[in-house]
Amino acid sequence: MSTNISRGELKYEGKAKRVYATSTPTEYIVEYKDDATAFNGVKKAQIGGKGAINNAITAHLFPQLEQAGVPTHFIERLSDTEQRVRAVTIIPVEVIVRNVAAGSFSKRLGIEEGTPLSRPVVEYCYKSDALGDPLINTDTAVALGWATPEQLSRIRELALNVQAFLVPYFLERGVRLIDFKLEFGTLQDGTVVLADEISPDTCRFWDAETNEKMDKDRFRRDLGGVEDAYAEMLRRVTAPAQG
Ligand code: TMP
Repeated sequence: MSTNISRGELKYEGKAKRVYATSTPTEYIVEYKDDATAFNGVKKAQIGGKGAINNAITAHLFPQLEQAGVPTHFIERLSDTEQRVRAVTIIPVEVIVRNVAAGSFSKRLGIEEGTPLSRPVVEYCYKSDALGDPLINTDTAVALGWATPEQLSRIRELALNVQAFLVPYFLERGVRLIDFKLEFGTLQDGTVVLADEISPDTCRFWDAETNEKMDKDRFRRDLGGVEDAYAEMLRRVTAPAQG
């Protein structure tokens, strides 16, 4: 596959990934870490193999999303824990798409976890560790200069396209996609592309038959079997569709 590319300056370190410059100004290297946090960094641990698994899952899904009409930052997987991506400026608005009530939605609205939603719900949060990623609306994002109305309508369209691709994709592999979080960025020419990752860190996955949780909620809620759930999700994501 690749590619003579090596890490330059560390541009950004988040809770689960590091982003490095490269000798090509329009490209970065993303390194996935085993570090896991929850509750805004209050709970911390390592999940063995998580970096490699999340890298592999994202590297498997992003090219398929690209084919389905969602532009992404992904170029190629470079190693177990690294991928080569197009350099983007991250729009500081996290986008959550929900199919089934769970997590903060259930808590905020008093809706029992597992209650199906009659249509997908798109929510927006301000990407700020210091503030704990608070819920916002699109007016807030525009008024504070985080995104333009045009970018936000493109983001919503792309998020729903991701949803339309992923729901049947996972169901054909025995997994219910309960909700997920996306991040978008802009290329130098202003094009909005999907960035970040799609993985058990950023999605809720429930087994289609048993509703067993197969995602980071196992870590957040001390359910045990965290590593096994991540490994099983990689296996299912890369498996062919079941009839
Ligand atoms: P929530 O119900 O806790 O708001 O989470 C909604 C979805 O977003 C869930 O799939 C987990 C994901 N998520 C992240 O990717 N990062 C975060 O910091 C949080 C809180 C949730």
